[in-house]
Amino acid sequence: MTLTGIQNIFEADRLRLQSKLDAGKTQAERNRLGQFATPTLLARDILAYASSLFPENEVIRFLDPAVGTGSFFSALRDIFLSGRINSALGFEIDSHYGEPAARIWMDTGYSIRLADFTVAEPPSEKFNLVICNPPYVRHHHLQNGDKLRLQAKTAHASGMKLSGLAGLYCHFLGLSHAWMAEDGIAGWLIPSEFMDVNYGKAVKQYLLEKVTLLKIHRFDPDEVQFADALVSSAVVWFRKASPPENHKVSFTFGGSLLEPRYSRDISREDLAREVKWTRFPKSDLSGAKEEKVVLADFFNIRRGIATGGNGFFILDREEITSRNLPMELFRPILPSPRYLAENEIMADTNGFPVLDRQRFLLDTKLTEERIKDRYPEMSAYLEEGKKLGVHEGYLCRNRSPWYSQENRPPAPIVCTYLGRSNTKSGRPFRFILNHSSATVANVYLALYPKSQLAKAISQNPTLLRAVWEVMNLIAPEQLLGEGRVYGGGLHKLEPNELANVDASKIVELIPDFRLSPEAEQLGLF
Ligand SMILES: C[S@@+](CC[C@H](N)C(=O)[O-])C[C@H]1O[C@@H](n2cnc3c(N)ncnc32)[C@H](O)[C@@H]1O
Repeated sequence: MTLTGIQNIFEADRLRLQSKLDAGKTQAERNRLGQFATPTLLARDILAYASSLFPENEVIRFLDPAVGTGSFFSALRDIFLSGRINSALGFEIDSHYGEPAARIWMDTGYSIRLADFTVAEPPSEKFNLVICNPPYVRHHHLQNGDKLRLQAKTAHASGMKLSGLAGLYCHFLGLSHAWMAEDGIAGWLIPSEFMDVNYGKAVKQYLLEKVTLLKIHRFDPDEVQFADALVSSAVVWFRKASPPENHKVSFTFGGSLLEPRYSRDISREDLAREVKWTRFPKSDLSGAKEEKVVLADFFNIRRGIATGGNGFFILDREEITSRNLPMELFRPILPSPRYLAENEIMADTNGFPVLDRQRFLLDTKLTEERIKDRYPEMSAYLEEGKKLGVHEGYLCRNRSPWYSQENRPPAPIVCTYLGRSNTKSGRPFRFILNHSSATVANVYLALYPKSQLAKAISQNPTLLRAVWEVMNLIAPEQLLGEGRVYGGGLHKLEPNELANVDASKIVELIPDFRLSPEAEQLGLF
């Protein structure tokens, strides 16, 4: 589609304004309020799809709860004949964007209200088209009092009982329910994360029970939509009406919203049963329901340590020596995967990893007073950290003492936590055989053999290597199918996702393996 005539000039002016305003803010400021504009062509695709959901002459009352400079307003004007647009209202909390935007829209009859959408009250005349790219603000940037207010208000507006981990975008979606006319349509451009994670359950329940979910299109993370926001996005479409019987939802993936590469219709019942909606449309449910032996039957899998500041807590051997810090307060930790070429880590006589770059984690429960008495240099180092504010970070201020670390013993096998689907090796995640006493930070998952496997390994020490070799043969699609997908082809593999990966090849190595009831349960989630 090409932009035409007056609107083209108008949109060009708006885009110029957008760039000027974006340039007037730092990245951190824009992150804080989730200020990332929708590209013109995507906004047009979204409004074009919206128009296909309305009878030809139905009059439109349009709402954008997070309007920015009005990319959706602009697309609305392009796609719908002006006579059809009865009203258009946008909310913008930030006057930096809102004021100049209100000026450019002044003569069009569209209005921008400079206000916080989450505190506004809906008018009696509701909106039959809500289109929104809400602020993607993660939960830990929401103030505690505000979180409670949002939770209560969202539950009241939509019945959606969001957990404290839900980002602001979920609240926007829930709150808008009260602004929508019966039978109205909503299209939400949001991170696809809600489709897989725990906090997304309430959103999915809302989509399945309170409204008629029409379609979810997910963009292929390898074709990033937002250059400056590292999230993979989805457009979620629904109608404010109870779902009809035997309703099916269109799941599409890749390509564009209007011309997706994959598509599949999934029944509401199947969606209610499936925890990971990003499985669709690529897989149908048969694979997901199948009972199988999974890695959780063999390993306890835990994310590595979140140190609270790797730059401060993880040091090279040289730095420890040159600062005269006591080695007994440190323990070895593997360097991040970027700096670790090896897939097998050997140990020296101390159990330290044999690597060019040896890294150590400050890990002690000694009090500051004891450290001051015994290790003045260490005490000075901690004071340095305090001057930098390390002790005030979220993790540190919730620990006692603030520099103590979680208990994460060395694991014989570790797996990288982040991977790209488009690596040259074709293997997004690496399994590393660790003979050393090094622990890992949260860029890895630590795999601890469960009792049956541990027993079998103690009887046959070569078994661990065989298991590791088999794990390296796990097809990348299997791991990617379980993990979450972020922008730029970046994939994350959470412990419970790795736990759910098929492990039938490991069973072949341990012929008398028995699936315990506990393992069976894990295999079914
Ligand atoms: C992701 S941007 C989308 C902007 C625009 N709709 C677009 O798609 O280009 C979200 C916008 O919401 C605004 N915003 C953040 N919190 C808000 C709130 N509580 N009420 C209204 N607007 C808010 C931000 O300032 C930002 O301009």
